[in-house]
Amino acid sequence: MALILGLESSCDETAAALVTSDRNILAHRLAGQEAEHRPFGGVVPEIAARAHVEALMPLIEGALSDAGKTLSQVDAIAATAGPGLIGGVMVGLVTGKALAHAAGKPLIAVNHLEGHALSPRLSDPDLEFPYLLLLVSGGHCQLLLVEGVGAYRRLATTIDDAAGEAFDKTAKLLGLGFPGGPAVERAAASGNPFAVPLPRPLKGSVEPHFSFAGLKSAVSRAVDSGQWRAEDIAASFQQAVVDCLIDRTTRGLHKADGATALVVAGGVAANQAVRNALQALAAENGLRFVAPPLWLCTDNAAMIGWAGAERFAAGLTDPLDIAARPRWPL
Ligand code: KG4
Ligand code: ZN
Repeated sequence: MALILGLESSCDETAAALVTSDRNILAHRLAGQEAEHRPFGGVVPEIAARAHVEALMPLIEGALSDAGKTLSQVDAIAATAGPGLIGGVMVGLVTGKALAHAAGKPLIAVNHLEGHALSPRLSDPDLEFPYLLLLVSGGHCQLLLVEGVGAYRRLATTIDDAAGEAFDKTAKLLGLGFPGGPAVERAAASGNPFAVPLPRPLKGSVEPHFSFAGLKSAVSRAVDSGQWRAEDIAASFQQAVVDCLIDRTTRGLHKADGATALVVAGGVAANQAVRNALQALAAENGLRFVAPPLWLCTDNAAMIGWAGAERFAAGLTDPLDIAARPRWPL
């Protein structure tokens, strides 16, 4: 059994967790930065990086103390090394390197997307490779065939915005505040999903790619028209996103040879309408449906610790001079 310290700092959550290779999350601590970024209506990279510097060490100390462990009992340190806002990624990776060097432990440089991609295996011990993963976050919207640790076949990606970005922009247009996804979901709960006619970009196209820019423009026009209630726009937008995700994932299933399950991960996977629709799609196709608990869908360090545990078990560690990467496709 290996004990891994996971660190996450690629966007606007600073987090530290202690995870074992037999799927025990001994501790996970997280500090959001919503209050710092709210006045600007989005994440400001410079503010984020400074907030990570202040938050990270106390979170690591807190996680170690919650777990009743010391750094010397950790087998490896896994830190997000990209993709993300480079200042924040550097804070977490440099901290991970320093701790690894000081304690004489191996470093594991984790791709943040791999953290999301493997997180369902942390919450579900029965999830076997290969599985079809819909990875929907603030920066990414992809269909991946996850064939093994480090073996990810990208079947589709977005040609413009990510799904979470569309939620965040819609929230801004509707004046619902930041972060946008949960705010749109709340507003949508009291709206009519079929009130506002909105497009379903790329619906029916043969390749399973995604597109959300046209949807965002249509939301902008609906807001400007003054014709609709904010709740109805939110609900209709959410319905359009769900329809696109389901249509595109259905296409992806045709390309996902041998998949044992349909899996969703990333921040947008916290959305109940998205989860329900995917669950129904999986059932129609005779596939298991796996979605991590909500807190494990949005950014956290347990998923980074777990990806670290999977890589460590495969003998994959990294040199201390490995660089932080703002862009890093899986
Ligand atoms: O995975 P994540 O925490 O960070 C990235 O790696 O991007 O995803 C954040 C994204 C944001 O765009 C946020 O608005 C969206 O996930 N999100 C949601 C919900 N909760 C978070 N979108 C829709 N409904 C939600 N409940
Ligand atoms: Zn993420």
